[in-house]
Amino acid sequence: MTAAPDPHSRPYRARPGQALSGHAAVPGDKSISHRALIFGALSVGETRVTGLLEGEDVLRTAAAMRAMGAEVERLGPSTAGGGEWRVWGVGIGGLSEPADVLDMGNAGTGARLVMGLVASHDFTAVFTGDASLRRRPMGRVTEPLSRIGAVFTGRRGGRLPLAVTGTAHPLPIEYELPVASAQVKSAVLLAGLNTPGITTVIEPEPTRDHTENLLRHFGASVAVETTKTGGRIIRLTGQPEFRAAAIDVPGDPSSAAFPLVAALLVPGSEITIANVGLNPLRTGLFMTLQEMGADITYTNRREAGGEPVADIVARHSALKGVTVPPERAPSMIDEYPILFAAAACAAGDTVVRGAKELRVKESDRLMLMARGLKACGVDLDEFEDGLVIRGRGRPPQGGAAIATELDHRIAMSFLVLGMAARDGAAIDDARVMDTSFPGFIALMQGLGGNLAAENR
Ligand code: S3P
Repeated sequence: MTAAPDPHSRPYRARPGQALSGHAAVPGDKSISHRALIFGALSVGETRVTGLLEGEDVLRTAAAMRAMGAEVERLGPSTAGGGEWRVWGVGIGGLSEPADVLDMGNAGTGARLVMGLVASHDFTAVFTGDASLRRRPMGRVTEPLSRIGAVFTGRRGGRLPLAVTGTAHPLPIEYELPVASAQVKSAVLLAGLNTPGITTVIEPEPTRDHTENLLRHFGASVAVETTKTGGRIIRLTGQPEFRAAAIDVPGDPSSAAFPLVAALLVPGSEITIANVGLNPLRTGLFMTLQEMGADITYTNRREAGGEPVADIVARHSALKGVTVPPERAPSMIDEYPILFAAAACAAGDTVVRGAKELRVKESDRLMLMARGLKACGVDLDEFEDGLVIRGRGRPPQGGAAIATELDHRIAMSFLVLGMAARDGAAIDDARVMDTSFPGFIALMQGLGGNLAAENR
């Protein structure tokens, strides 16, 4: 039985058109935006955040922080894009029990990080989310948080809806991550903030370090040691005095990836994307594209909000297939869908292995990308942990209608491919992109992209 189509969905189609040109700025970094609100809520005094991503995911975290006692308000638009927000926090250990269920929408990061916070508070909170989030595994956070002393009651497989009863007497743990996940690392560290003693997280492969950077920015003591095998040991001293601090959120490299790849694929294009965060633990896609022969240059390199940023210039390029080293996965985990779209237009094989985590993102991204690309005429093999895509050195035929299954990055990847593929590509619902990239369609149209709403 197939579900009846949602009468409010917004189908969209992309077609080849003119070359892309001009300047654009992408919304604020999603990872940093969630954390900015959370850290602001744990500080005494006012935290000003500029450039905050005002996507659905981050707004859910804002609502959760409000529900637990913080004041969170939008002051207006930021000059650099995004929003200017003010958070008036309650201090570490000062959150209060939410009066209702916390609905985290589509946001895995919001759900897992906020669960970490609740774990070391003496109250109960119930978490739920949309159909995509309710399918995603939470055992990866409930397992270490149980060791701290929190108690979880959830559905089979640790799925949402899930109740967390935090502990009044949290224990500092030493935890080695079984999967390379910044969300799990951050959940444990956030629980460690209201825990006496030193909480230690060992990550065999480094993952994005925005939590560690912001912990320091707010005055916590965090020691990071690099292991002989390239991993990291992070030690957080619990119950610090948090100082409210201003945060300037850079543009999200994971969002910049979409217009950037569109410019590489559409003949004659040259675009500049301003103010993109270039934290080295986030730039695996840009490195991979350069290895594929992409003409990408960084200008105006500087620092903003404690993170390296630059403007990125991307020009149409003839791409060739490459083998992506599996150890690069954590630094480009959200970028594989758009890499697959680029690989579908490249000459030769692109080999991606060691990316099994893609099966538990907002959707099973290996399955949906393989299915959609095949429907567009792309030759590929799907493995449990990756794809091998055999590009022909030109865009595929396209023409497919893609079911996005509540996954924003699947939607944007196929719209980008549709701008290059001969017969374009369509998606079933453009609303899903509001989770991370509100205004994606307008931004692409502003650069000359040929995107239009579909009649049902
Ligand atoms: C994120 C970590 C990654 C990433 C997600 C954001 C974060 O998830 O996919 O979009 O902000 O910590 P995992 O930690 O599950 O890999």
